Amino acid sequence: MQLTMPLDMHLHLRDEDMLHNIAKDSVHTFSGAVVMPNLVPPVTTKESLLAYKKRILDAIGDEKFTPYMTLFFKPSYDKAFLESIRDELTAIKLYPAGITTNSEGGVSGFDVEELRPTLQAMSELDIPLCIHGETNGFVMDREAEFVSIYEKLANAFPKLKIIMEHITTKQSVEALDRHENLYATITLHHLLLTLDDVAGGMLQPHLFCKPIAKRPEDRDALLKVALEAHPKVMFGSDSAPHPREAKESCGCAAGVFTAPIALQVLAELFESKNASVENLQAFVSNNAQRIYGVKPMDKTVILEKKPFKVPSDYNGVVPIYANQEIAYSVKEVIYG
Ligand code: NCD
Ligand code: ZN
Repeated sequence: MQLTMPLDMHLHLRDEDMLHNIAKDSVHTFSGAVVMPNLVPPVTTKESLLAYKKRILDAIGDEKFTPYMTLFFKPSYDKAFLESIRDELTAIKLYPAGITTNSEGGVSGFDVEELRPTLQAMSELDIPLCIHGETNGFVMDREAEFVSIYEKLANAFPKLKIIMEHITTKQSVEALDRHENLYATITLHHLLLTLDDVAGGMLQPHLFCKPIAKRPEDRDALLKVALEAHPKVMFGSDSAPHPREAKESCGCAAGVFTAPIALQVLAELFESKNASVENLQAFVSNNAQRIYGVKPMDKTVILEKKPFKVPSDYNGVVPIYANQEIAYSVKEVIYG
């Protein structure tokens, strides 16, 4: 099986030692990825964005890969600032304050007038807005409660591309078709898991993430639009590495590490559900190219149906399916 120019539209590459520990393995099978800005402190200036991009390029060494850079949303960004950074910027990521890892400086309350100056400027400059859509309500209801906020923003800024990140519910899937300017990323793990897999038996810290995996009917709704390659959905792994000690501890950090085996497992999943390779290609690249207007570097990933034993960890970070066998292996990655 051959996939061309695979893209991951939501990736955490971290910084410093963790960046060095996971970068090459996270990007090897992808032409590019939208890199999340939730560092400590978050990426909010042109200087910090360019410096972070350079650290990523240094860490990936000879891997051929484009980091699509993002800023951490602030309502104070004005049009002049956004114009000055436009060429370096792929999207801006909005976090509700305190909702997930390193999001303390995010937005509280979603008052359209308060957000208008930045969102209007983004709309005029055609900068997509990526949103972590969860309220601070009951954990299983947070995303469904946020749908009305997505819709309020979609109506108030009809030309702004709004990407509902890592959707996990059938309510978010339904919202996609109600608003021309709403799009979504879907992770690998939310196509595979329900809350039962995380907490139905012994607690599985390496499957714990935000938003938490939901009900079987939610997973089915996600699977339907992913497998049919609905034109408004894109693959975004939300691969979010944490050190083993931060996961296997009292107070488990949220995030599932999937990037090194994401394409291989997607291939297995699409095959098991009788979905075509064309649809997988659209889900992992073509839809994103069209929605974001990006032209990824040439990279072809050849997968073969040969069992692959997932390592117990990648430099101390435990991946999904650690020590287990998956059906597909990477045979070759061809550049150019
Ligand atoms: C992410 C992280 O660790 O940065 N965690 C997660 O559970 N997905 C943040 C995020 O995307 O919510
Ligand atoms: Zn994320």
